[in-house]
Amino acid sequence: MQLYQRVSCENSLYCAMRPASTSTRPAAESTVPEITAEPGVLRPGALRPGVPPGPRAPSLYQSLTFMSRRHQSWMRSSRARYGSLFTVRMIGIGDIVMCTRPELIKQVFSADPKVLHAGTGSPLAAVLGRHSLLSIDEEAHLAQRRLLLPPFHGERMRAWEETIENIAAEVVESWPEDREFAVVPSMQLITLRAILRTIFGATGPELARLEDLIPRAVNLGAAMVQLRFAQRDWGPYSPWGRFLRLRHQARLQLDNLIAAARRDPALSERTDVLAALVQATHEDGSAISDEEIYDQLNTLMIAGHETTATTLAWCVERLRRNPAALAKLTQEALDGDENSYREAVFREVLRARPTVTMSVRYVVKPYVLDGWELPVGTRIALHPGLVQYEPSHFSEPERFLPGRFLDAKPEPFTWIPFGGGIRRCIGASFAQMEVDVVLRTMLRKVELLPTTDRPEGWRFRGVTFVPSRGGRARVRHRINP
Ligand code: HEM
Repeated sequence: MQLYQRVSCENSLYCAMRPASTSTRPAAESTVPEITAEPGVLRPGALRPGVPPGPRAPSLYQSLTFMSRRHQSWMRSSRARYGSLFTVRMIGIGDIVMCTRPELIKQVFSADPKVLHAGTGSPLAAVLGRHSLLSIDEEAHLAQRRLLLPPFHGERMRAWEETIENIAAEVVESWPEDREFAVVPSMQLITLRAILRTIFGATGPELARLEDLIPRAVNLGAAMVQLRFAQRDWGPYSPWGRFLRLRHQARLQLDNLIAAARRDPALSERTDVLAALVQATHEDGSAISDEEIYDQLNTLMIAGHETTATTLAWCVERLRRNPAALAKLTQEALDGDENSYREAVFREVLRARPTVTMSVRYVVKPYVLDGWELPVGTRIALHPGLVQYEPSHFSEPERFLPGRFLDAKPEPFTWIPFGGGIRRCIGASFAQMEVDVVLRTMLRKVELLPTTDRPEGWRFRGVTFVPSRGGRARVRHRINP
C-alpha cells in the first residue's frame, strides 16, 4: 500500500516546488499586508509564488532533527529566526509550512475541504486503511464523520464512566509500592481496555486476544509510520511483515466482533460504538459494509488509545514536578465529584505537552496563505507546541500553571491540541472524560509522590510526543481508599 497518495498537478507553475532556502522573502515577520483573496483563488502579481523561507540545512538533516528529541527546540528557534510562517523540508514528504499565527490557523482550519485535504498524503493511511476517517477527504469524509459523531455525545459517554473507573482501579491497584516505574504501559492498558469495552463492546476471549495483539501492532505501526521506504513485506521477520501479520490477526478478532454484533438480538440496547455503526445506514439508506466498520473501529482505536495514554503519562510527569498543583488536584479528588481543577490540569497538560505533534493539511489546489501562493503538494502544519508556547497567548509558557484555565478562556485558535474545523478530533470529549476519570481514580487509590528529578524530554514517536523516560511514577497505596 502506498503511504503518500499522489495528487495530480493541474498547473505546472505550482508544481515546481521551490526549495525553502531559495526564497527571496526577508527572514522576519511578514512585512506584506494580509492578502484576503479567497483560498485557492490567485491574484497574479500580488502574491509571492512558492513557500516562505525556513531552515537551510539539507532535508536529511531537517528530517532527522524533526524526529529527534531536539524537535521542539529546533521548531522554536526556527520560529524565532524566520517568523510566524516558515518552511521545513522533509525527505519523502517535501515542504511543510509551519503556521503559528492564530488568524492564519483559523483560515487553514476553515478552508474549503476541496482545496486543503487532511487525508491525502497522510502517513496514517498505510497503517489505518483506505476507509479510515483519517485517510479520506471531501464528501466521503463528511459522510463517515456524520456516522461516527453521534455515539460520542454526552449521555452515552456518562454511561461509560463506571466501566472506565473499574478498569483504572484494577490497573492502579497493581502498581508497586514506593518504587519508581514507567507509567506509559499502564496508561496504555487502561485506555486500550476502555476503548475495547466502550467502543467495540468487546468481552471474553476477543477482549483478551485484542489486548495482546493491539499494543504490539500499535508499537510497530507507530515506529514505522514515517518510514515509508521500510514499508515492504519481506516476510514474517521483517518489521513491516510482522506489522501486517499482527494487523491481520487483529482483523480476524474484529471480524468476529462485527459478526457477533450483527447477530446480537439485544443490539439496540447496547451503548458501544460498534453497535451504533452496525445499526446505522448511509444517507442513501444502504448498509455500512464490514470493511468500512472495520476501518473506522481501527481508526478509533489507534487515534484514541495511544494519544490518551500519552496525555495521562504527561499528567503524571508534570504533576510530580509541580507539587502545589499535585496537592490541589489530590485534595479535589478526595473531596468529592467537583472537577474544575482537573479540567484545568487537563487543558494545561495539553498546552504544555501537546500529545499530537501537529495537524496537517495538504494543498490540492494552489492556496493563498499570508500572501504566499502555496503550490499543490505543499503541507501546512498547525503545530500546538509552537502556538501554545507563544508568551503573547500564554504568559510564562514554560511554567505549568493550570490556574490560567480556571477563570479565563484562551484566545481563539491559540489552544489547538485537538486540531480544528471539520477535522477536529471527534474523540476530544471522550479523551477529556477518560483523563478525568483515570486521574480521579488514581489519586483516590494512591498517593502520587512528587520528585525533584529533571523534566522528561519530548520523545517523538511517529505521530505523538511521549515522555522520554516513559513517565516515571512513584506511589504509595492508600489504606481503605
Ligand atoms: C488526548 C487525546 C487526544 C488527542 C490529543 C487527539 C488529537 C487529535 C488531533 C490533533 C487530530 C487531528 C485534528 C485536525 O487535523 O484538525 C485528531 C483527529 C482525530 N481523533 Fe483524536 N485525539 C485524542 C483522542 C482521541 C480519541 C479518544 C478518539 C476516539 C476514540 C480520537 C479519534 C480521532 C479521530 C477519528 C480523528 C479524525 C477526525 C477527522 O479527520 O475528521 N481521538 N485527534
